[in-house]
Amino acid sequence: MTKESITPKKRSTKGTDGEKVRILISRARLQRRITEMAREIRKDFPNEELHLVGVLKGAVFFLTDLGKQIAGNVSFDFIAVASYGMETRSSGQVRLTRDLDSSIEGKTVIIVEDILDTGMTLQYLLSIFEQRKPKRLRVAVLLDKPERRIADVHADYVGFTIPNEFVVGYGLDYAERYRNMPDVGVLQLPAPGVKAGNPET
Ligand code: PRP
Repeated sequence: MTKESITPKKRSTKGTDGEKVRILISRARLQRRITEMAREIRKDFPNEELHLVGVLKGAVFFLTDLGKQIAGNVSFDFIAVASYGMETRSSGQVRLTRDLDSSIEGKTVIIVEDILDTGMTLQYLLSIFEQRKPKRLRVAVLLDKPERRIADVHADYVGFTIPNEFVVGYGLDYAERYRNMPDVGVLQLPAPGVKAGNPET
């Protein structure tokens, strides 16, 4: 059998249409921190089955990497939310677009989010989950942007506290792009009036 060799991909800071992405948190740092978070979570609940609920779509990579690092019994489910109409989340209008597959009653549930921003999404999720009588309800977020907070919510497990910048990668998107970047980066849009093209960097 041949040994599998893993070659790290060249890091690109070039996006499309003149956009650039500056790496903020490398894939290695993400993975190290996620491993620590998984240990913290298991330490808090040494003998319990943990039910991880990922919030689509941004949390997909975080949930899968976190789930792989938590020892013992772990189950998964997914939920999706959206803002009402054209309004932003800051209006507080969050609605459910995909519900869970199974009941969370009596379960130790961990909501898994990629980013905690205004907190409106989490506030909504906590309110509907609490009504469903889980045994315990906790929140794990990879990124926390406290400067943007409107709702009075907090996460029990936080990967990284970040400044108020537009971040993409590792599940986070800009117009559905960049989710597949393995690192988290800050998106830099071209200055207004600059012709979109293929910048040489
Ligand atoms: C992002 C993120 C959180 C939410 C946090 O979702 O995944 O769910 O925003 O923002 P808040 O704290 O201001 O409510 P987004 O609407 O970008 O959807 P996506 O996960 O499908 O990208």
